[in-house]
Amino acid sequence: MSAQETAQQTQTAVRCVGLYQRFGDTVAVDGLDLEVRRGEVFGLLGPNGAGKTTTIRMITTLLPAPPGAIEVFGVDVARRRTAVRRLIGYVPQQLSVDATLTGRENVGLFARLFDVPRRQRAERVAEALAAMDLTDVADRPAKNYSGGMVRRLELAQALISAPRLLVLDEPTVGLDPVARDGVWTRIEHIKATTAMTVLVTTHLMQEADHRCDRVALMHRGRIRALGTPAELRGALGPTATLDDVFRAHTGDRLDDRGDLRDVRATRRTARRVS
Ligand SMILES: Nc1ncnc2c1ncn2[C@@H]1O[C@H](COP(=O)(O)OP(=O)(O)OP(=O)(O)O)[C@@H](O)[C@H]1O
Ligand SMILES: [Mg+2]
Repeated sequence: MSAQETAQQTQTAVRCVGLYQRFGDTVAVDGLDLEVRRGEVFGLLGPNGAGKTTTIRMITTLLPAPPGAIEVFGVDVARRRTAVRRLIGYVPQQLSVDATLTGRENVGLFARLFDVPRRQRAERVAEALAAMDLTDVADRPAKNYSGGMVRRLELAQALISAPRLLVLDEPTVGLDPVARDGVWTRIEHIKATTAMTVLVTTHLMQEADHRCDRVALMHRGRIRALGTPAELRGALGPTATLDDVFRAHTGDRLDDRGDLRDVRATRRTARRVS
């Protein structure tokens, strides 16, 4: 069966079984099991250093995984890397636009990368920019964009290949509430029209509560709790918030695992959009 056929049949968007990754002495992902269902917005939550980005980098084929450990729409990530890449749109935690290029050029680059047929390219790029409300600024260099506009440009890049799975690593970090809303409104609009699945990380529990169908709380490389936001809150008590759930499963000290590297990375991320 072709990867496309397999992808059309399975109801599971992402399946991770016993996922493991270490960097030197640091075990970043420690036997993680996870299932993301087709069509849902799934939030991966957890403190700095929990292993969220490492997990995402394995799912998106940027870090190696052994055969059988990850499937994306039933397609094995280790065995069919290129096929999996075609199913995924990815907005990384770190900046992915070229600041010296215009918005249109940045999206055009991704269109070439993802083999959008040459004759359709200009139109598809213009459509992606319009969907992210960037038509007016499309021919300005990205270095003049605001943080919210940069994030929407990265979304336009990720969506140019019409992915079945959109993976977003902290899409709203460093954005003001209006810009955050702008990002989410557009994600939700695309999702409603294409039945895309969304896997997202965020440190904003209110955002996760409001936007995600299901969330998983990750701590020290493993999933500690999983369910709808209402289920997780309800398990703690009638007045519990998702912040309370986060504390209950990860301990009060938000940085008990994160090292200086994490703090530096977080600051860099927050600064790059300010
Ligand atoms: N390339 C790397 N080299 C060495 N250690 C790494 C590397 N990438 C991640 N780590 C370590 O692995 C652990 C998990 O990091 P990861 O970036 O996956 O966490 P995270 O949950 O995404 O955190 P944050 O919320 O800060 O983005 C951390 O202890 C981190 O320092
Ligand atoms: Mg991260």
